[in-house]
Amino acid sequence: MSIPETTTHSETSNGSSQRVDELMQSMRRDLDQGILPARAFFDQDLHELELERIFARCWSFVGLESEIPAPGDYMLRYIGEDQFIIARDEDGVIRVLFNKCLHRGAPVCRAEKGNTSHFRCQYHSWLYKNTGEWSGAPFRRRAYKNLDSKDWGLMAAPHVDSVHGLIFAALDADAPTLDEYLGEMRWYLDAIFGLSDQGMISIGEPQRWRVPVNWKSSAENAMADAYHVPSLHRSGEEVGVFPDIEAGGAGGSSFHIYFDQGHGMITNRGFLPPPWDKAGFPPEVSEGLEPSTLTPQQLEYTMNYSATTFLIFPNLEMIRVPATAHPGAAPTVFTYLRMVQPDGPNAIVNWNWTLGWKTASDEFNNEAYISGLAMHGPAGIFDQDDAVVWEGAPRAGKSAFARKNNMKFNYQLGLDGMSDYGVDPEWTLPGIATTSALGEAPQRAFYKRWLREISTP
Ligand code: FES
Ligand SMILES: [Fe+2]
Repeated sequence: MSIPETTTHSETSNGSSQRVDELMQSMRRDLDQGILPARAFFDQDLHELELERIFARCWSFVGLESEIPAPGDYMLRYIGEDQFIIARDEDGVIRVLFNKCLHRGAPVCRAEKGNTSHFRCQYHSWLYKNTGEWSGAPFRRRAYKNLDSKDWGLMAAPHVDSVHGLIFAALDADAPTLDEYLGEMRWYLDAIFGLSDQGMISIGEPQRWRVPVNWKSSAENAMADAYHVPSLHRSGEEVGVFPDIEAGGAGGSSFHIYFDQGHGMITNRGFLPPPWDKAGFPPEVSEGLEPSTLTPQQLEYTMNYSATTFLIFPNLEMIRVPATAHPGAAPTVFTYLRMVQPDGPNAIVNWNWTLGWKTASDEFNNEAYISGLAMHGPAGIFDQDDAVVWEGAPRAGKSAFARKNNMKFNYQLGLDGMSDYGVDPEWTLPGIATTSALGEAPQRAFYKRWLREISTP
């Protein structure tokens, strides 16, 4: 898919927008050679373009169906930097409603989570149903005699859909279907979450915490950065909470599977010795999984590989790895989902859900929850490592010295002729597979997708 040569970025006469156009031109020129400008990680105008052309256009993950199981349940979530109410109406339909009153823009809902049939705005008490419909206002008969209620309902995401209990929304009326958007990544979602017919549930509430980094650093890392694991996270093995740092990271058993749409994953073969069974789970858990909906090929994938991380473009991440909160003890495989909420060019709010199998014992799910928190989350040893180094990219992007000298970042690992790591010609399952997780081909695919989106008005 080609990247448009020109942008019609609306304010090209403005100096800062001209800078964004120049930035994009340099990316179009250099990305194939694995070069990205540092400025891409800190620029307010570029960030506005990302909000408009990526977050307001692509499908975004907003939460789990299991978080709002009953009619009337709702929760507050974000798409880009905008807050939405994810509400299950009285008929069970999930709505994604812009949390802004049509009278003066005040939020109509302030509680993070709850159950209600209506939302009442605090400011002048306009009232909306949980379907988003306008439902009334003080002194309505005398104050709004000719108001047509159907014109004044809450604005809503035009598309909402779910896959394996994960709710996604798209703000663009012309968005493709969720299935089309996921493409062949859907095949792997089935293999990862469809291991049990009964699916996965969120254990507890999601954790949230703010980190001073650019959202893309987290996305590209979760998608494919096995290279950093034995280096940055070495202490995880040293203190005995992560079993085999080489195998879990860049060792010979890991490789990439990725897609031109900017989705991708790190997959591992033979990560753990027996008695680990399907996808790295111990027999007492995997026996309850009964993946009857999987195709023979998906089963083959499940028996031989474990997806250890993935990214669904732009900002939904998964990690499924073994770890323990008790140094030296046997590890437990945990699965967590992360939504990276951008908040300006140099801040994110991480949303972290630990998932458990409905068919697994409480004991296993609780241990997975604790293991996940020990590694990832606000107090997780891995997340603290990552946050410290990711701060560097926006700081470099912001630096006057770096800007003056056009500082560039190197994404050349795995380029033809540069490295021994290339495409695996033997791979027969969906996607492009690499021979090693050490390359950076998926990251280049991520930035190509990103560039296509921000270049397209
Ligand atoms: S701003 Fe909501 S009722 Fe006035
Ligand atoms: Fe990391």
